[in-house]
Amino acid sequence: MDKSLKGKVAVVTGASSGFGEATALALAEHGADIVAAARRMDRLADLEKRIGAKGVQVLSVKCDVQQEADCKNLIAETMERFGRIDILINNAGVMLLGPIEDADTEDWRRMINTNVLGLMYCTHAAVPHMRKQKSGHIVNISSVAGRTARAGSGVYNASKWAVGAFSEALRQETHMDGIRMTLIEPGAAATELRDHITNKEVRDSVNKWAEAMRQLESEDIAAAILYAVTAPDRVNVNEILIRPTDQPG
Ligand SMILES: NC(=O)c1ccc[n+]([C@@H]2O[C@H](COP(=O)([O-])OP(=O)(O)OC[C@H]3O[C@@H](n4cnc5c(N)ncnc54)[C@H](OP(=O)(O)O)[C@@H]3O)[C@@H](O)[C@H]2O)c1
Repeated sequence: MDKSLKGKVAVVTGASSGFGEATALALAEHGADIVAAARRMDRLADLEKRIGAKGVQVLSVKCDVQQEADCKNLIAETMERFGRIDILINNAGVMLLGPIEDADTEDWRRMINTNVLGLMYCTHAAVPHMRKQKSGHIVNISSVAGRTARAGSGVYNASKWAVGAFSEALRQETHMDGIRMTLIEPGAAATELRDHITNKEVRDSVNKWAEAMRQLESEDIAAAILYAVTAPDRVNVNEILIRPTDQPG
């Protein structure tokens, strides 16, 4: 094990699959103690074993980031168990694509409540502790969709645009206390994200588009996050846009 993150405590939301799971494992591999959060506790129980096998401490917390009380509890449980929070990976998200007209507006609420408000609630709960420590690192997962809007992706685009705006304001408000902020903007990756799209026609067509190229793997995103969080304290890697080589736009 590389011990470059030894003694650090990392909270990862959406740790039950995809980028979150890969990132929790990568941070543990580098010595960080991990707080893994998601709604599916059976998946976290399995992850807990794999993280524990790396010789670091791990705590699983059930958290629906749409609920502010769950986000507050996530950070409170972290502080109770470890007494500090060094890294917060705001990764939990949903991508319920579809045209604006005739959309099921419940999809919109889930995207905004999860991708935007959930990320904000976790940040709001964590920042006071990082300020007291005079150090911390918040990593927010946006998307290429936070930089390029497309027909059929309006509300997902809006949610990820919001993540970018919030992140830059956060950086300006916290950098003087040694708190770093990294925005990660991945392109198409092979995870279960697209499987949750409720509009079958859209789901099939997005899957067809993505599967026609070499997609990113979750470990590619974990490696980008690792690069940012293991940089020297004086270095604030603010933004990483990472597309598959084959993705045109
Ligand atoms: N895959 C891509 O192509 C891609 C590209 C750009 C950006 N992203 C972004 O990357 C992030 C991770 O996505 P992924 O590709 O790894 O997808 P994924 O495999 O579907 O993972 C999403 C994670 O978010 C969690 N989650 C969803 N709703 C939640 C809620 N209300 N409360 C707590 N956790 C919740 C899920 O856990 P539970 O269901 O167990 O709660 C799951 O662990 C998302 O923000 C996504 O928008 C993905």
